[in-house]
Amino acid sequence: MASIVVRQAEYRDLPDIVSIHMSAFPEFFLTSLGDFFLNQYYRLYIKFNHIALVCESEGTLCGFVVGTDNASEFYKDLRSQWFYFLLPVVLNVFNLRLIKKIVTRATTVVFKRRINATDSRYDKFNELISIGVCSAHQAKGIGGRLLAKYLSLCMNKGVEAVYLTTDATDNTKVIDFYKRSGFCLDKEFEQDQSRKMNVLVKYLDK
Ligand SMILES: CC(C)(COP(=O)(O)OP(=O)(O)OC[C@H]1O[C@@H](n2cnc3c(N)ncnc32)[C@H](O)[C@@H]1OP(=O)(O)O)[C@@H](O)C(=O)NCCC(=O)NCCS
Repeated sequence: MASIVVRQAEYRDLPDIVSIHMSAFPEFFLTSLGDFFLNQYYRLYIKFNHIALVCESEGTLCGFVVGTDNASEFYKDLRSQWFYFLLPVVLNVFNLRLIKKIVTRATTVVFKRRINATDSRYDKFNELISIGVCSAHQAKGIGGRLLAKYLSLCMNKGVEAVYLTTDATDNTKVIDFYKRSGFCLDKEFEQDQSRKMNVLVKYLDK
């Protein structure tokens, strides 16, 4: 049986976390910002003591999960690193579609904190921001292990509930993955004008 370990992420894991992100989220906006940006982005979770866990299978890093108990602090930390948004802009100066997306997303991060801006209920919950398993290791129980460890960490800290946002459309497999661990649909909203999103919440038993 494969030896699987879930542990706290360390700085030395960042290159692997970036390649897992690239493999798990090939079409996503953050991926289009490139590996330098992603390295700085995931560094934030470790540097500012938010939550960052990784999964090793047979000594190979194959998945990660990141989140925070204090989303407003996290987005403040992200805003403080605004200069890392500049490099992708400079490198993609002729890619007008990408530049438009970067500006729209950066504005979202600077001026409001996604769903928290409109619903303060979420302020006291933990936000699971991202979970990814590299494509070669998916559907082998790695994501489930990461999620279980993340939830037990939150429960031990006395967190009342964990929430996350995920695409509402063409995303049944991922939504089912969360539902199997007890997440329920709490809210639907539209991001960047036309992208339909679900907010899923899991209340933790004390
Ligand atoms: C969503 C994601 C994190 C789930 O991780 P995973 O490791 O693939 O998930 P698990 O293996 O724990 O469970 C998923 C599937 O594997 C099955 N499974 C669970 N344990 C298993 C095992 N030991 N052996 C084989 N299959 C297993 C589950 O039944 C489930 O099957 P189904 O979805 O076909 O019904 C991963 O698929 C991923 O990174 N996707 C791309 C990125 C993404 O969309 N992230 C979420 C953004 S909100």
